[in-house]
Amino acid sequence: MKALVLAGGKGTRLRPLTYTSAKQLVPVANKPVLYYGLEALRDAGITSVAIIVGDTGAEVRDAVGDGSRFGIEVTYIQQEAPLGLAHCVLIARDFLAGDPFVMYLGDNFLVGGIADLVDAFRQADHDAQILLTKVAEPQFYGVAELGPDGEILRLEEKPEHPRSDLAIVGVYTFSPAIHEAVRSITPSARGELEITDAIKWLIDHGYSVHSHFVSGYWKDTGRLQDMLECNRIVLETITADIRGVVDGRSEITGNVVIDPGASVANSVIRGPAVIGADARISDSYIGPYTSIGESCVLQDAEVEYAIVLPNSTIRGVSRLTYSLIGRNVEVTRADAVPNTYQLMVGDHSRVQVKA
Ligand code: TTP
Repeated sequence: MKALVLAGGKGTRLRPLTYTSAKQLVPVANKPVLYYGLEALRDAGITSVAIIVGDTGAEVRDAVGDGSRFGIEVTYIQQEAPLGLAHCVLIARDFLAGDPFVMYLGDNFLVGGIADLVDAFRQADHDAQILLTKVAEPQFYGVAELGPDGEILRLEEKPEHPRSDLAIVGVYTFSPAIHEAVRSITPSARGELEITDAIKWLIDHGYSVHSHFVSGYWKDTGRLQDMLECNRIVLETITADIRGVVDGRSEITGNVVIDPGASVANSVIRGPAVIGADARISDSYIGPYTSIGESCVLQDAEVEYAIVLPNSTIRGVSRLTYSLIGRNVEVTRADAVPNTYQLMVGDHSRVQVKA
């Protein structure tokens, strides 16, 4: 069994981060979301992995390399444009050859791994297996409508008026029958070759498509709120591990990880939280569910329920919450009068100031 990991795409919902960076590399508890997927594949016994990359391919290649660090062997496939999930299968034809495979969306996060799902597929004789889970806002997902016996009646991609609240999770398993399906469909109204159309094609042509409910936590990390929630879920599982330097005036409570080289002075950290290597925290408060990337500087700052990527500085600002801060960002207080907000913010950024 092989795996096809999708790490291209447009990432419009996470702009401006995705102008400069791959969304699959945004860290959750200071580890890129893509790494969780690669580890899940390895833990399911899959070592032959192709990663689809787009404009941010160089960054993904740098981060993942040949895969040996994860115990897998990675091949990269360049997609010339984000032409759809089924297009990714189309261009991976040679790599996949006649093997069954898992298709894993590189920005998806599934707690509990995929070993059970892969075993179930290996034992059964299905042509496709999709995973479903109930969601609050099905209009943002591929949605399945099931019949009374659990059979799939209908699949729709991001429907305006969803007929169920069952979202299709971004981990699929296919037999080689999918290749004829992706060759047979045409692009949707949004110009993409949709995997939901390819699966529908399988059903319409008498192939067996099985659906499976996901019992564990699943998130598509495409939006800010999803990234932050994933970060919370992972931080809830960490255990305290302090390898940086914490001075006697600081107070650390709950599960807090402080990586080597980081320093904490005259500060309060309430876990769960992680502080990356070489970060410098002084005269600051870090609240629960916060991940501070390596080499960040927090001085006289308060941050809670947030993800801060490496090399950013937050100085003289309280209190930042519900925030995703990119790399090399500066958020500082303007001390001189007039007492104003002074911004230089990239395209498609969102800034919410307090009322
Ligand atoms: P999506 O999140 O559905 O699409 P997107 O990345 O274009 O994001 P947005 O909706 O915010 O604009 O993609 C799911 C995963 O599949 C994600 O990891 C990107 C990847 N992908 C590709 O590799 N190639 C593609 O053609 C598409 C559409 C997605």
